[in-house]
Amino acid sequence: MIIRPARLSDAEAMSRILTDIIAVTQRQRPHDQDFVRDTYINNPHGILCSVAEDANGEVLGFQSLIRAAEGNKYGVSAGWGIIGTHVSPRAARRGVGKALFSATKLAAENTGLQNIDATIGVDNTNGLAYYDAIGFQSYRTGDNTICKRFSVF
Ligand SMILES: CC(C)(COP(=O)(O)OP(=O)(O)OC[C@H]1O[C@@H](n2cnc3c(N)ncnc32)[C@H](O)[C@@H]1OP(=O)(O)O)[C@@H](O)C(=O)NCCC(=O)NCCS
Repeated sequence: MIIRPARLSDAEAMSRILTDIIAVTQRQRPHDQDFVRDTYINNPHGILCSVAEDANGEVLGFQSLIRAAEGNKYGVSAGWGIIGTHVSPRAARRGVGKALFSATKLAAENTGLQNIDATIGVDNTNGLAYYDAIGFQSYRTGDNTICKRFSVF
C-alpha cells in the first residue's frame, strides 16, 4: 500500500468508496464526483487530501485535512484542521486509516496546525473507535455528533 496526494483523476474511485460506505452504513451523504472534487481534492481550504492505493493501483481509502475558515459550517474554531476519513468497506480494518493518518499528521505539523477536529455521528461506532485509536479525544458534542480533537503539538 502506498499513500500519495489525491489527484483529480481519483474522483471516480473516491466517489465509489463513498457509495460503497453508504450501501453498508445506510447513512446518506453527498457522494458524486463533483462533490468529491470540490470537497476533498480541490477544496480551497485544503491542506492535504491523501489516498491509499494497493499494489494494483486500486484506491482503498482517502483522508482529507482542511483548515477551518471563519464561520465554517462545522462550527470548528477558525485555524483548526478538519479531518475526514473514508476507507472502502472491502479494505476495512487493515490499517489503511492508520497509514493515511501518518501522512495527515505530518502535513499538520508542517503547516503549524495546533489542533484537528473530527466530527463523527454518535451512532458511528467504527469512526469513533478509529479516531480514539489514533489519538483523538472528545471535546464537545453537537446535534447527534461527537467532536474529537487531536493536539498536533
Ligand atoms: C472509520 C474508518 C475510517 C476506519 O478505517 P480503517 O482503515 O478500517 O481503520 P484501521 O484499520 O486503520 O484501524 C485503526 C484502529 O482503529 C480502530 N478501529 C477501526 N475500525 C474499527 C472498528 N470497526 N471497530 C473497532 N475499532 C476499530 C482499531 O483500534 C484499529 O486498530 P486495530 O485494527 O489494530 O485494532 C472506516 O471504517 C471508514 O471509512 N468508515 C466509514 C466512514 C467513516 O465513518 N469515517 C469516519 C467519520 S468521518
